[in-house]
Amino acid sequence: MKDLIEKLVKVFGPTGQEGEVADLIRKEIAPFVDDIRKDALGNLIALKRGKGGGKKVMLAAHMDEIGLVVSHIDEKGFARVRPVGYVLTVTLAGNRVRFANGAVGVFWAEDESGDLWKPTPKLPDWNKWFLDVGATSKEDSPVKVGDLAAFYPVFHDLGKRLVAQSMDDRVGCAVLLDVARRLKDPDNDVYFVFTVQEEIGPKGAMVAAYSVAPDVGIAVDVTISADTPKAPPVAVALGKGTAIKVLDSGMIAHLGVRQALVDAAERASIPHQMEVLPGGTTDASAIQLAREGIPAGAVSIPSRYVHSKTEMVDMQDVTASADLLVEFVSKPIDW
Ligand code: CO
Ligand code: ZN
Repeated sequence: MKDLIEKLVKVFGPTGQEGEVADLIRKEIAPFVDDIRKDALGNLIALKRGKGGGKKVMLAAHMDEIGLVVSHIDEKGFARVRPVGYVLTVTLAGNRVRFANGAVGVFWAEDESGDLWKPTPKLPDWNKWFLDVGATSKEDSPVKVGDLAAFYPVFHDLGKRLVAQSMDDRVGCAVLLDVARRLKDPDNDVYFVFTVQEEIGPKGAMVAAYSVAPDVGIAVDVTISADTPKAPPVAVALGKGTAIKVLDSGMIAHLGVRQALVDAAERASIPHQMEVLPGGTTDASAIQLAREGIPAGAVSIPSRYVHSKTEMVDMQDVTASADLLVEFVSKPIDW
């Protein structure tokens, strides 16, 4: 599982350019499913057929990671960028990005007053940051306006815990792949949907939910683990199990789906916690509003430092999330 996560977090896939991630996932999931297709937006949809008579369950994990797009290149070859998704400017100084063609860029900011050197610098806005791609002029720049970049991949195995720049949501993709390879004759038809463009407001999930038309939809994504010093009073912690969503700022999980997930966790003795996420949302918020409305919930992997280049998850929570989904989709689902 760690190897699979490492492979997934290192693949280039900023929002809007998820093709390489889809290629890897297609190869990994193919032996375990009955059908695979890609839709017009780039969502990868794989079906594992059940015994018949069960529900249609859609499990969704997003392939994209937050990124940047080049908006301008000046005469000296410095590139200006805009964020694609919610990129925290606090993470930029000295940070590196890479482009699809392998070009690497380093971030710094215009610094008229030496601001970045102050003990408590004021963070410049996006117009003040520039990306140095090693060019000496506009002409020899390896990148051009419109090119997408993602943060330079990192992966660290700390034993129980793993760190990478794109745990959000490659770890969710890894969980779906693990579920696919473990399923034997599930009661339900299971659609593994690897979505595009979640980080700019769940776009891919919206159209995938329309075409799949599931009876129940579950997003599998990271959630904020509030267990660092002086964290807000939220009861999600690293290592305490998979997190079953109650609500976030974009949705309230369907009460029946939420209870069915809790029941599955209890019957299989899977460590779990209830998730109340004060900010952010997942693909489930789009699935819920597709067609005439689809009962939806989410299974979350607690993560520290979300949307930084070092997002941290605990392997026990990753395993518990996969265990819960295997149990949930294998048996009859009712509420
Ligand atoms: Co995110
Ligand atoms: Zn996410």
